[in-house]
Amino acid sequence: MKLFTVKKSGPICTTITVPGDKSISHRSAMFASLAKGKSTITGFLESEDCLSTVNAMRGLGATIEQTGAGTFIIEGRGGKFTFPTSDVDCGNSGTTMRLISGILAAQPFRSRLTGDPSLSKRPMGRVINPLSEMGGKFTAEGEQGRPPLVIEGGELKPISYEMPVASAQVKSAILLAGLFAEGETSVVEPAACRDHTERMLQEFGVTLELGASDADGRRRISLQGPQQLKARDFAVPGDISSAAFWLVAASAKEGSEVLIEGVGLNPTRTGILSVLRRMGAKIEITPVDPDAAEPLGSIRVLGGQLHGTIIGGAEIPNVIDELPVLAVAGALAQGTTIIRDAKELRVKETDRIAAVAENLRAMGASVTETEDGMIIEGGHPLHGARLQCFGDHRIAMAFAIAGLFAEGETVIENVECVATSYPTFGTTLESVQTL
Ligand code: S3P
Repeated sequence: MKLFTVKKSGPICTTITVPGDKSISHRSAMFASLAKGKSTITGFLESEDCLSTVNAMRGLGATIEQTGAGTFIIEGRGGKFTFPTSDVDCGNSGTTMRLISGILAAQPFRSRLTGDPSLSKRPMGRVINPLSEMGGKFTAEGEQGRPPLVIEGGELKPISYEMPVASAQVKSAILLAGLFAEGETSVVEPAACRDHTERMLQEFGVTLELGASDADGRRRISLQGPQQLKARDFAVPGDISSAAFWLVAASAKEGSEVLIEGVGLNPTRTGILSVLRRMGAKIEITPVDPDAAEPLGSIRVLGGQLHGTIIGGAEIPNVIDELPVLAVAGALAQGTTIIRDAKELRVKETDRIAAVAENLRAMGASVTETEDGMIIEGGHPLHGARLQCFGDHRIAMAFAIAGLFAEGETVIENVECVATSYPTFGTTLESVQTL
């Protein structure tokens, strides 16, 4: 069993480069495999989740060759994949399973998507429903739309779909299926969620129509099918969701100064910076390539005393993956932090509301769990504890950060899951700690 053993640290003063963005890496492997021709992807995140996508695309006939660290040359299939001779193993990765469902719904063969025990508990009805409306035939072998999923793909028809949840995975699955359907497929998101699919599809030569957000924040994205992707080279920026751990650690610890370089600054992902600034954090952003398909730059953080805030509403999809570590920030802040409208946290790799509340309490924080979030009375000193991460990478990393502030020693058990998104987290964690 792998552990993180963390002691209370002094100020954190360092420069950090975070590995490639997970969401963008998945899409780069899928879209280059879909495209006609050869693409070179650099900065690819070599984590278990993204390698699940690489293996899945290989199983469907794409030729993917690794030529260096984070560099993959992908010879795409021009939209026509080959029948997978074994199950498509999506591992722990919801993004792999949900996005590939959109592609496989349009392929003229049967495929079966499987996942690990955590992924096997996650809801797939959210992609099965719209993709079935388009003509894909899905059987969920688990209870209530849970994996494994059997897909009988074939000819699809376009739909206009109002998403009941603001999910970039659902939006992406529908747009990918729409590439194969004759006519206009459109999807309305109830609140802005990460737009990597829209940006990258355009980079790969797809024409999309991006509607303006209405007064309630709803936005329509449409495409005319069928459309073919064209190969192109793509550089994946650093993952702001991985940077989030160091941003919280540095901003809450007096005397710290951390520079994070080469990190993605897509506005649908930078909510963490707005929240931390509202909490009083001193953050300076230097864009390096604001006009790139995926904007990137560096972030400098100075440490100080944080204060509580409210995180909710349309901001939630933008910070959904950062909420565990933002809850830790709330516990370190003076005053009350409220997280609401975040029911989606209950269907992530684990129930992240329950997991965060349990672990924060074990460290001496005052937390009240609500149906869609939590209320944290900040400022209670944290003490070390032996904690579970419930097989969830972001819980493991969020509580390693909490450990940097806790009196005594904090041990987090079974942290192997961190390899799904940030394989080098443990090494960086060791290097940032000071006495
Ligand atoms: C992701 C979308 C989000 C996010 C996940 C990655 C993506 O999930 O939590 O880590 O790459 O599209 P939802 O679409 O379920 O909100």
